[in-house]
Amino acid sequence: MKILAVETSCDETAIALVEAKGNLIKNRSAGWRIKILKNLVASQIKIHRPYGGVVPNLAKREHLKNLPILFKKIQDSGVKIQDFDLIAVTVGPGLEPALWTGINFAKELAKKWKKPIIGASHLDGHLYSFLLQRKRVNLQKIFPAIALIVSGGHTTLLLLKDLTHFKKIGETRDDAAGEAFDKAARLLDLPYPGGPEIEKSAKFGNPQAIDFPRPMLNQKNYDFSFSGLKTAVLYYLRDNKNAKKEDIAASFQQAAFDVLVLKTLRAAKEFKAKSIFVSGGVAANKTLMKEFKKAIKKSPNYPVAQSPNLFITEFPTDNAAMIAAAAYINFLRGKKRRLTAQGNLSI
Ligand code: KG4
Ligand code: ZN
Repeated sequence: MKILAVETSCDETAIALVEAKGNLIKNRSAGWRIKILKNLVASQIKIHRPYGGVVPNLAKREHLKNLPILFKKIQDSGVKIQDFDLIAVTVGPGLEPALWTGINFAKELAKKWKKPIIGASHLDGHLYSFLLQRKRVNLQKIFPAIALIVSGGHTTLLLLKDLTHFKKIGETRDDAAGEAFDKAARLLDLPYPGGPEIEKSAKFGNPQAIDFPRPMLNQKNYDFSFSGLKTAVLYYLRDNKNAKKEDIAASFQQAAFDVLVLKTLRAAKEFKAKSIFVSGGVAANKTLMKEFKKAIKKSPNYPVAQSPNLFITEFPTDNAAMIAAAAYINFLRGKKRRLTAQGNLSI
């Protein structure tokens, strides 16, 4: 089935065309494949950068401008309307004025071209982005699984029994991990979005230079907290005027990743997970990937033969291909989401 997907929940306007194969028989079928035919993203970073964060009305204006441009690019590449079977669109969570632009655009397309339309959750999109791989995914071998979604708006741990049965086992009690990166970057005078900037700066610093707190590391739950870590950076800068910024970036990053990796692995051990899925913008960070690999190798709880499969998504930041994946699963399940903007939609 070919799916055209639209994503406008925050500051990326995205349209993708995918071909999805796979079914939900027992939710554990072999040979799932979501092939990406087109994956276009128009980033608004430059527009929001002077404001140090996303301005909802500017995001809306840019989405309205970019959606027809991206759609025309898809058509110009030879894709015909009759070539796809379903239109998918993000309905939440996100900025409501931004979400509405995508929903209205998708509805108009569906009406004009007489195609079915289906709503998808942005969080399901991140979660299912592990299906967007070049290789086929064998669902028979990867569950139970633990999923960590680490983005600008969320830090959530899920336990998945199979593809569609999952429950939340932990989440952040304050700032999301990406949000903490963005705020720490601002303190360090680095531009928005802060995640990639901290990663770059950290390469030139010593991650052991400063012993920042590892919030909630030793608590027997799967929740997170990142606002104290950001405040620790603030105080450190206040008290150490000549500190090397690269050391602060590297030490901050290390503290955040220590908690994310350890708590995820602890959950994987408790629930005997065969796989760990990591998704969301922060999953773009190469050091996070290295830390996960290192920890899995080192962990005495995982003798080599039983180490969980690590799926760090190849599509961490916002895109529409992941929305197509989530929509395809909704389609197979017959799950209908309201086609209205739901800013606080939860997983
Ligand atoms: O998933 P995403 O694109 O949007 C949301 O759904 O929020 O995530 C964006 C977040 C931002 O906070 C950004 O700073 C962070 O992901 N991010 C990173 C990196 N790339 C993006 N954080 C750490 N390291 C990165 N390389
Ligand atoms: Zn996102």
